[in-house]
Amino acid sequence: MGRRPKDYMKNKIKRPKMKTILHAPKGMPDILPEGNVLRRKIFKLVEEMSNFYSFGQIETPILEETKLFMHGSGPTSDIVKKQMFTLKTPGGDSLSLRPEFTPNIARAYLENGMYNWPKPVKLFSWGPVFRYEQPQRGRYRQFWQCNFEILGSSDPIYDVLTIQIFYNLLTELKIKNLLIEINTIGCDNCRPIWHKNLKTYFHSKQKSLCPDCKNRLKTNPLRILDCKNESCQSLKEGAPKMIDYLCSECRNHFKQVLEYLETIGLPYNINHNLVRGLDYYTKTVFEIRKADDNIALCGGGRYDYLIEMLGGKPTPAVGGAAGVERLVEIIEKNQKSETSFKPKVFLIAIGDLAKQKSLKYLEDLRRVKINTAESFAHESLKAQLRQADKFEVPYVIIIGQKESIDNTVILRDMKASTQEIINGEKLVEELKKRFKNDNINII
Ligand code: HAM
Repeated sequence: MGRRPKDYMKNKIKRPKMKTILHAPKGMPDILPEGNVLRRKIFKLVEEMSNFYSFGQIETPILEETKLFMHGSGPTSDIVKKQMFTLKTPGGDSLSLRPEFTPNIARAYLENGMYNWPKPVKLFSWGPVFRYEQPQRGRYRQFWQCNFEILGSSDPIYDVLTIQIFYNLLTELKIKNLLIEINTIGCDNCRPIWHKNLKTYFHSKQKSLCPDCKNRLKTNPLRILDCKNESCQSLKEGAPKMIDYLCSECRNHFKQVLEYLETIGLPYNINHNLVRGLDYYTKTVFEIRKADDNIALCGGGRYDYLIEMLGGKPTPAVGGAAGVERLVEIIEKNQKSETSFKPKVFLIAIGDLAKQKSLKYLEDLRRVKINTAESFAHESLKAQLRQADKFEVPYVIIIGQKESIDNTVILRDMKASTQEIINGEKLVEELKKRFKNDNINII
């Protein structure tokens, strides 16, 4: 490199510097490599399940017209009332970050003419959704959902298939002690009478309701049953139950759902207060949680009017979504060790020639899927060995000037604290042999 001109410092560009380090927005944590290991495992399982049950993957935009959610998620849902991230585009349109997948999928179903596809249309999605909530355990402002929808059938078997898919997913993730909570919230024929009676009932208790529920009494009394506020819990006990108001179609539907659940041996509990927080639900609603924890791992239900409300022909549908962060938290609690990102070897290169050679070795190792860490940017052997120690790898490969010229490498066994010079061409075979002897799974 040539020498810098003398007046170099004088002409140096002054870059504006932040005084403090910025933070990610509240409730929107970074997902670091270690955290992504488990998420990718979950996604792999979701993908396998979606293939098995023949669901096609659908990607919809993260931003949609705000009115889609106003109509879809519903004007009385907390999501629309308090939790949307909404922005105005430079062109003056109002767009919102998706707070869930269901309205987007209903919109895409109509827009892409999926009503002409063989029915039912089965779709799954995986991605981030956004809700302006107070962050706490299992509650974020950006979180990921894995979402399954079945559109175009009113058959109760699909309600149960949806529940079964989520139950299987959680079971395969080795989450134990699961409980399915289920309820029916009827249809447009029978629900209004229940509504009326709920309203009358809670009207008599108005004074004791929390401020939110006082409002809910005016907009959607059903939502009072969903209130988590301590002061409202005892008031719900004597509330009218939807099950006592069901029309014969809804009664039959619910009966069949329960029969199917019993046939396949899924443990369920009828929770008369389970109404779910979105306006589009009809008939079956469900949530799955651990029996000893009241945080829902997934939830869903039937939504037979949504497509019609968005301008389509009557199209019954059912679906559900699981919160990926909540799954991760539970699995991590159960199986801490399985979640770490663990390379199997650490590659140390000292000097330019060694660095060149090590890129070739890195590719050899990639081909046989031996996860490899390195710290090429560190020059000293000591610093690189310190890094290798941090990764707790069983083997370290060291390449110095001499090894680069000889086409050899030093293979260091970290546990035994021994090392050996081996031919570079034989490195991969030697490592595979050692992993086999040590009983170490490569991936
Ligand atoms: P949801 O119950 O609002 O339903 O959300 C589904 C799941 O997302 C919840 O069970 C929970 O695991 C997770 N979740 C919800 N809010 C948060 C949050 N703030 N932080 C972390 N995880 C959260 C729906 O979204 C419906 N679209 C499901 C559906 C699909 N219904 C029919 N089809």
